Amino acid sequence: MDKILVRGGNPLKGTVQVRGAKNAALPLMAAAILGEEPVVLHNVPCLHDIFSMDKILAHMGMAIEFTGRAMTLDPRNFGTPEAPYELVRKMRASFFVLGSLIARFGRAKVSLPGGCAIGTRPVDIHLKGLEALGVKICIEDGYVIADGKLKGANIALDFPSVGATENLMMAASKAEGITRISNVAREPEIEDLARLLNAMGAQISGAGTDLITIVGVDSLGGAEHVVLPDRIEAGTFLVAAVATRGDVTVQNAIADDLPVFLDKLEEAGATIEVHGTKIRAAAPNGIKAVDFSTRPHPGFATDLQAQMMTLLCCAEGVSRIKETVFENRFMQAAELVRMGADIDLDGNTAIVRGVKSLSGAPVMASDLRASAALAIAGLMADHGETAISRVYHIDRGYERIEERLASLGGDIERVRE
Ligand code: UD1
Repeated sequence: MDKILVRGGNPLKGTVQVRGAKNAALPLMAAAILGEEPVVLHNVPCLHDIFSMDKILAHMGMAIEFTGRAMTLDPRNFGTPEAPYELVRKMRASFFVLGSLIARFGRAKVSLPGGCAIGTRPVDIHLKGLEALGVKICIEDGYVIADGKLKGANIALDFPSVGATENLMMAASKAEGITRISNVAREPEIEDLARLLNAMGAQISGAGTDLITIVGVDSLGGAEHVVLPDRIEAGTFLVAAVATRGDVTVQNAIADDLPVFLDKLEEAGATIEVHGTKIRAAAPNGIKAVDFSTRPHPGFATDLQAQMMTLLCCAEGVSRIKETVFENRFMQAAELVRMGADIDLDGNTAIVRGVKSLSGAPVMASDLRASAALAIAGLMADHGETAISRVYHIDRGYERIEERLASLGGDIERVRE
């Protein structure tokens, strides 16, 4: 098993390129099921989650070629609409194939999902929405078995779930008639999915607002599409720059996709400069405590909460962080405390009292973003080595993060035990 070893003390400096967004690429790959011709995706990141989706689709008969960062998904010999537990359990986003499978085959059998241990993460909103579209759902032996002819409907989501919005957009794109979905997620990845589906021939409007309208069409074709840049990866590098009192320019980043996050970094004392698709972050005068709450987009992204908490561990003053999207997403806190942080948890609120410095320690990655936070903590430590185990979590969502942080001057490497 690999470990990542980090020694702190070096301010990160230089330029780093952001890859394509994992959370956009996964539903885009699922959308390829819907077409009658191949879909070509560019700027696809090389990540374990992408390989997991590749395996699920290939298992069902999708022909996939992935070279460089270009992926061709050919659905012409797609066979069985069944996604088995052994493949789906690795990643919750595998469940996003359900909507496309029903739209293409009128039936599907998909295992209930696994993924990061950051809460119970039910799929009730996905299923309720599909039922409203006329699908009969039953749960048997851990599988969702769905069948029925899709008919347009008016659907109001109980919560703006990203995955449910995506699943329903894909299903409704081939439903008979018009579907209106309100209280939908407004994440940039939703807009990216709508762009691909529309390029394939779908008629979707309103993506990026809280009401999406979909006029169902009989068939969809192929398309070529560039995956949008990963805003969470951009944010992670920006936090790492500020946390090490460095000066880093993140290229291929979209500042408009990080609205509250960039404001909070500035409020904490960072200087942020945006030039087109470049964001530069530095922290010349130290870091101050800030309060923030995670929210669905355009609020502060829950996927950047752990990294921001790490930065605030050494801020001047007391920060209050409220996690409103997931119920169990402070798993990094206990590990940060082992590195010298002063954090108290009170339900969904974390109280972070700034300390002078962190020290290296052996720590365990518990989920994807928490593990990135631990790498940042290791870079912040003023003495000692941080050895991060269970790094498969980090490989799910960051492409060779240690090499890229090292290229910015971080003392960080991967070792095989
Ligand atoms: C997506 C992202 C993930 C991000 C999350 C929130 C992908 C591949 N993953 O996950 O990185 O952290 O959005 O921004 O895009 N919920 C229900 N019932 C449902 C669905 C969701 O109760 O049917 C709850 C979840 O338990 C969670 C909240 O809604 O508490 C948000 O979940 P959701 O927006 O669905 O997240 P994902 O799509 O799984």
